Amino acid sequence: QKAEDKLKSQLGEEHLPKQGFPSEEEYEQKQGCPSEQDQEDLPISPSAEMSLTTHVSSMDDYNSTYRRSIEDPGEFWREISEEFHWETGPKGKFVEHNFDPNVGDVFVRWMPGATTNITYNLLEKNIREKCLGSSTALQWQGDDDVETREVTYDHLKTLVCRAANMLKAKGIRRGDRVMIYMPQTIEQVVAMLACARVGAVHCVVYGGATAEYLADRVKDSKCTAIITADFAGKDGGRQPVKTEVDRALKLCGREHFVRFCVVVRRVGVGDQDTWPKATGSQESSVPWCDGRDYWWQEEMERVDDECEPEWMDAEDPLLILYTSGSTGSPKGVIHTVGGYMMYAATTFKYVFDCGNVTNKVHFCTADLGWVTGQSYVVYGPLLNGVTTVLLEGDPLKANRIVSMVRRYSVTSLYTTPTAIRHMKATSGSEANYKLDTLRVVGTVGEPIATSTWRWYRSTIGGDHCSVVDTYWQTETGGHVMTPLPGATPMKPGSATLPFFGVEPAVLTDDGTEMVGPCEGHLVFKSPWPGMMRGINGKPEKFTSYFQQFPGYYYTGDRCRRDGDGYYRILGRREDRVSIPGAMGQVFNQLDVEATLLQHPDVEDVAVVTTDPTDDTGECHSGGYDNWYIFVTLRQTACLHAQTIFTNLREMLATSLHVFTPPSHIHCASELPRTWSDKVLRRLLRKVVLNDLDLGDFHVVANLKSLPKLFRQCRDMQ
Ligand code: WT7
Repeated sequence: QKAEDKLKSQLGEEHLPKQGFPSEEEYEQKQGCPSEQDQEDLPISPSAEMSLTTHVSSMDDYNSTYRRSIEDPGEFWREISEEFHWETGPKGKFVEHNFDPNVGDVFVRWMPGATTNITYNLLEKNIREKCLGSSTALQWQGDDDVETREVTYDHLKTLVCRAANMLKAKGIRRGDRVMIYMPQTIEQVVAMLACARVGAVHCVVYGGATAEYLADRVKDSKCTAIITADFAGKDGGRQPVKTEVDRALKLCGREHFVRFCVVVRRVGVGDQDTWPKATGSQESSVPWCDGRDYWWQEEMERVDDECEPEWMDAEDPLLILYTSGSTGSPKGVIHTVGGYMMYAATTFKYVFDCGNVTNKVHFCTADLGWVTGQSYVVYGPLLNGVTTVLLEGDPLKANRIVSMVRRYSVTSLYTTPTAIRHMKATSGSEANYKLDTLRVVGTVGEPIATSTWRWYRSTIGGDHCSVVDTYWQTETGGHVMTPLPGATPMKPGSATLPFFGVEPAVLTDDGTEMVGPCEGHLVFKSPWPGMMRGINGKPEKFTSYFQQFPGYYYTGDRCRRDGDGYYRILGRREDRVSIPGAMGQVFNQLDVEATLLQHPDVEDVAVVTTDPTDDTGECHSGGYDNWYIFVTLRQTACLHAQTIFTNLREMLATSLHVFTPPSHIHCASELPRTWSDKVLRRLLRKVVLNDLDLGDFHVVANLKSLPKLFRQCRDMQ
């Protein structure tokens, strides 16, 4: 009653739910019948057809393999390591680690002393042993949807060897760091692989990032070379890229070691040069520094097309990737040659397992500047000899994902909840796209609402695909929690069970491991080959992952484990909002968001609180009186915003029995998101507080939406 009065006084009578609040009796009746939540917990079995041919075909199969991987991880991964080429075998222990900073330095080592080269494994091994030379490795599509280009494994090998020779000729040696900052193109992949071929560490920064963002990473990585492009294809035109590099190097001042830049001429790299012509001569429209800058295409002509791989130690660094991060200085996550290779390849093999499909075509919409692109556009698919689809532009444009799945007969698709929600919002009444080639559809990056999950499975996945909700992080190198197609019964919105060799635990605030169904902090107890080995130049930041709960790798995420042992990720600890429902139930931001997303006019929603957080960033009081809803309405919304808000309040009251009204519902034309599609809740909090101290805002992809959001919120308050 108190909540109802409060709601009345805040909103006025006319905004109250039309149906009124359920009475205690009605509420109890509702408790008696299976709620939607219960139904959602009923697992959905993978299609029988899939189970016939996937690597892991049943839960018995999964359980026994998983048990083996935990009981003797060394032996488990030693067997898997036999699927790869090692020039020399490991010396000493197969795996060693310490996760407890109180005992000594934290470290992880897999197969130290063994030598290999990741490019030998994805080129020579596929070409010689699996006879894949003439099959397509890369299938590229430009931003205009017209330019396309296909590269076979044989051709890729030639390109990689040439580029490797070019780097060598310019003095790049093993251990050097090379920055790659360019649009998503074939050359971008070739540049990465060329670095790996010669033992240089590649560091890909998202090609749309600002010069400031790039400059910070040039300084942090101490890279000696930059591989870039003149332009990127964008919105039917061209966007200058090299200009940003020059600006970044200027910003670095004396604080950089960059000796040379190789510039890919992006204009007309496809089969047709359909690009609008640049005004003036090409060279003159690109800032140039003689003696430092070289054209990629010219240099590639000068070198040989054979290049022996550099044999690297399994524990040598392969790549540095900067996390999408929020505040403070850049955090360069280091992954290694051996462990990362085994893990990216093995997770790809099992998680995107399409059964006995002859031509496997994988389409992951992520940019190569994020770990998703590194592991599941490049290394995972190529190590498995699969065709990987590479898109230059924004995957959200028009109905591009669907048309590309059709155009390239994609068998596995991997994208984000944001892209899925967007497809859903723009799909009209289409109930099933009949994308018959698809077998597995995946999601990553944020928790996915059950309604979005169901739409993805039925409309994109044609009701027969396995949906893999993959939970992982830049730091984990590859999937750590995920269903396996053909084996794991799925639950909408659940990342289900750990991958082989991954040992999760759920801890209370004081670090006690819980058993059975529970909710708390998600940690891992033991190492897997793909986990990061360090943070570039900042050992204390690496240790900090193990300090909160000594002996465990702490993800920073909260999760809920159910009676079947399935894990549901609840988001970052600092984003936590608790909202009380009737009868002592407490809901979190995701429960509320999932409910509101069911409104037909709502495309996107985020719930935040401005309650104070403690020094670990966790909000303890929860959003009891102080929580805010941000909604983005669909363009096709039929109702007036105020009416929709009334509906939303009504939905909270009737579906969740949440009677503590939000302090405000804000209508946003867009929610601020990172380049990797994550909603920036930290900025939404700033919007509510009208705090213009935004921290590192170069991570915001849609920066333009922010001033408007600030203005709107100020006007409301
Ligand atoms: C954070 C890691 C993993 C590659 C892309 C992002 C969140 C990731 C899921 C998922 C719920 C997820 C977590 C995690 N996250 N996948 N399936 N369900 N949340 O990499 O930028 O390092 O972000 O993304 O909060 O910690 P990242």
